Amino acid sequence: MKDFLQDKIFAQLSETADELNLPCYVVGGYVRDLILRRPSKDIDIVVVGSGITMAQAFARKLGKGSKLSVFKNFGTAQVKSGDLEIEFVGARKESYRRDSRKPIVEDGSLEDDQNRRDFTINALAICLNKEKFGDLIDPFGGLSDLENLIIRTPLDPDITFSDDPLRMMRGIRFASQLGFFLETRSFEAIERNRERISIISRERIAEELNKIILSPRPSVGFVLLEKTGLLEFVFPELAALKGAENREGIGHKDNFMHSLTVLDNISRETDNLWLRWAALLHDIGKPRSKRFDKRLGWTFHGHELVGARMTPEIFRKMKLPGNEKMKYVQKLVSLHMRPMILSEEEVTDSALRRLLFDAGDHIDDLMTLCEADITSKNPEKVKRYRENFKIVRKKLKEIEEKDRIRNFQPPIGGAEIMDTFNLPACAQVGEIKTRIKDAILDGIIPNEYEAARNYMMLIAPKIISKD
Ligand code: CTP
Repeated sequence: MKDFLQDKIFAQLSETADELNLPCYVVGGYVRDLILRRPSKDIDIVVVGSGITMAQAFARKLGKGSKLSVFKNFGTAQVKSGDLEIEFVGARKESYRRDSRKPIVEDGSLEDDQNRRDFTINALAICLNKEKFGDLIDPFGGLSDLENLIIRTPLDPDITFSDDPLRMMRGIRFASQLGFFLETRSFEAIERNRERISIISRERIAEELNKIILSPRPSVGFVLLEKTGLLEFVFPELAALKGAENREGIGHKDNFMHSLTVLDNISRETDNLWLRWAALLHDIGKPRSKRFDKRLGWTFHGHELVGARMTPEIFRKMKLPGNEKMKYVQKLVSLHMRPMILSEEEVTDSALRRLLFDAGDHIDDLMTLCEADITSKNPEKVKRYRENFKIVRKKLKEIEEKDRIRNFQPPIGGAEIMDTFNLPACAQVGEIKTRIKDAILDGIIPNEYEAARNYMMLIAPKIISKD
C-alpha cells in the first residue's frame, strides 16, 4: 500500500511514531477512501498506546503551521495542518450495554480496535512504522469486499448493530453512496434489530438520510430502508406512500416508487440537497388527500398543499433546519403541479406571470423538479410532456424579459396608500395593494409606477366607500 502513502505527512507520522517507539496505523474511512480513490481530508490514526502523546509529538515536529487540540476526556487529539485534519486515538476495546450507545472503553490492541468497527471496508489499517511502512492489516477481508462492492460487518452483525444501531443506517448509506451491495446476513440483522434505531438521536439519523439523498442513485438507499423495515421508524410519512391500491378494477401508481424515481431523475441534474428533498417530498401529501370516486377513480386533489403543510412538521421532527431551506422545499412542494397544469392547457400570459411571481428566484428549480416528475412509461406521453415544458420554459423567459415579474415588488406600497387616502393600517389598504398587484399580473396595467398610481386612484375610492 506504500504507493497510496505518497503525501509527506505519512513520512512525518512514521518518523514521529518510531521516535516514540509506538505502533502506529492509519485506519478506517480514510483507508477505504484511499483505495477507492475518493479524496478525503480527514485522516484517522490509531496508536497502540497514548494517542495524545503521539499527537503532541507530531504537532511539535510540524511546528508553527500546525494546530493541536487535545480532548482529555475522550483520550483523543487532533492536529490540523493545511487542509488536513488528523485525529489521533489509542487502540481501544469497547463493550456496550443494551440500553445505550455509550460504550465502556478500555485500552486494547490493534486487533481489538479493528473488531469494534462497523464494516469490513472500514476496518482496514495500514502500518506507518518504518519497518512495516505500507503493510495492510486486513483481518476481515475488507480489501476483497472493496473489490467486490460488499458491505458486511466484521463480527456477527447482530452484535455490531446492537452495539451501535446507527450502523444500520450507515450500512445502507454506504451501499447507496458507493453503489455497494448489503450482504444478506447484515441485511437480515438490520431487519431483526430495526427497532433499536429508536435510541439514536434524530440529528444523526437525518445526517445519514441527507447522505443517502446526496448519493448518485438515492433510491438504492431508500429501497433498502424500506425492505429492512427501518423506513417505518425513520420516515413514516414516506413509508405511507407505499402500495398501489386497487378498487373496482381501478388502481393508482405506487407513490413511494414514483417519488424515488423522481428523486433519482433529479439527482442526475443537481447536487442541491434541498432540491433533492423537494423531489422526495413532492407527493408526500398524497396518502392524506387520496379519495376514490366511482366516476373519477382515484384522486389526490390538493395533495401539493397538504404536502406543503406537512413539510415544516417533517423538518421539525427530523431536526432539519426550519429556516429558508425548509421554506424553499415547502414552496417547491406547493407549486409542483402548476407548470404541469400550464403545460396541458393553452397557456395565458396572466397564468405565466402568476407562476413567475409565486416562484420568484426558484422558477428554474421548479421547472427542473417538474421535468424530473415525468415518469410515465409511455414514450409518446413523455415526449409530449417534455415538449410542452420546453414551450412553458420559453414563454416564461419571454414574459420575464418583457415584464420583469420575478421577485417584483408592487410599485405602490401600503405606506403610500395610507398617506394618499389618509387611512390607518386596515383591511382596505391590503385590498387596494392586492388589486394593484393582480392588475399587473393579469396584464391590465404594466409593471410601472405611473400606471399603478393611476390605477390606484381609480379603484381605491370604491373600496374605501364600501365600509
Ligand atoms: N465507526 C464505527 N461505527 C460508527 C461510526 C464510525 O465503527 N457508528 C468507525 C469506522 O471504522 C469508520 C471510522 O469509525 O470508518 C470513522 O468514522 P467516521 O469518520 O464517522 O466515518 P467514515 O467511515 O470516515 O465515513 P464518513 O466520513 O463518510 O461518515
